[in-house]
Amino acid sequence: MSASTISVRVARKTVEATDICSFELVDPSGKPLPPFSAGSHVDVTLPGGITRQYSLCNDPCENHRYLIGVLKDAATRGGSKAMHERVNEGDVLEISVPKNHFALAHHATRSLLLAGGIGITPILCMAERLAIANSDFEMHYASRSRDRMAFHDRILTSAFASKVHLHFDDGPAEQKLRLDELLATPEEGVHLYVCGPKGFMDAVLGTARAKGWPESQLHYEFFAAAPVKSVDDESFQVKLASSGRIVVIAKDKSVTDALREAGVEIPTSCEQGVCGTCLTRVLEGEPDHKDLYLSPDEQAANEQFTPCCSRSKSPMLVLDL
Ligand code: FES
Repeated sequence: MSASTISVRVARKTVEATDICSFELVDPSGKPLPPFSAGSHVDVTLPGGITRQYSLCNDPCENHRYLIGVLKDAATRGGSKAMHERVNEGDVLEISVPKNHFALAHHATRSLLLAGGIGITPILCMAERLAIANSDFEMHYASRSRDRMAFHDRILTSAFASKVHLHFDDGPAEQKLRLDELLATPEEGVHLYVCGPKGFMDAVLGTARAKGWPESQLHYEFFAAAPVKSVDDESFQVKLASSGRIVVIAKDKSVTDALREAGVEIPTSCEQGVCGTCLTRVLEGEPDHKDLYLSPDEQAANEQFTPCCSRSKSPMLVLDL
């Protein structure tokens, strides 16, 4: 166990909605857990050794527990299935200390929180925080149906219930989320936060960008990426700036895998381009970005890339390694 890893016990496992369970994680000896801020996630090492990221969805003032919500999703690579089927109350799990790649902008004058499906987890934590800080915010939570909406009762009995709008895909037209109206006029100081399935995120971010929202006011966290391998993937070379060594990246291998085989370890977590753990500086060459972590502006700058999934448009990339 590394210094950034802790053991936690599953104190409670609760069915929150169809295919969604929450897991309450506590220190096995009852000690306080490391603090976290709204938008944080932990890396959970699952039975079988795979690692997955789950956002913390309890009030960040709490230090006696972490609460995560997990959607059992047949389309994912098995992590959520393992959590649902193989992790039970009393089990001890290894997790990372909380990390935050989706933090609130504390200078915001107003916050607009948008959650789709299981994307409610970090958004709920943000709502708790903003409510405690007495900050101006509005939250929209969209779900396919009532039975798939996790934390419904908690939200409607919360101190911030009046700031929440619920939207159901199978509900009447008048309660549907109208992004065109909601995002019609970007205002200085108003920050937008969105988390959910990729289609939802694309719709929200696409609408916001079309309406002229500046990137600096858009905050987002993807849960999982669609497979990014393409038949057009070509081999290319990576040069390590510190030694001048060149490693060939075969067309069917990720940069992180090829470098690992060459004895160069880059820390990874999601291996899907969503978490940013593997972010590496690019000194020369043009990356072919396939991640969902960097903003369009950051991708266009070509100063860094995610070697777990991204590739190269130029024959060689020189990396700050
Ligand atoms: Fe998560 Fe590369 S490991 S973005």
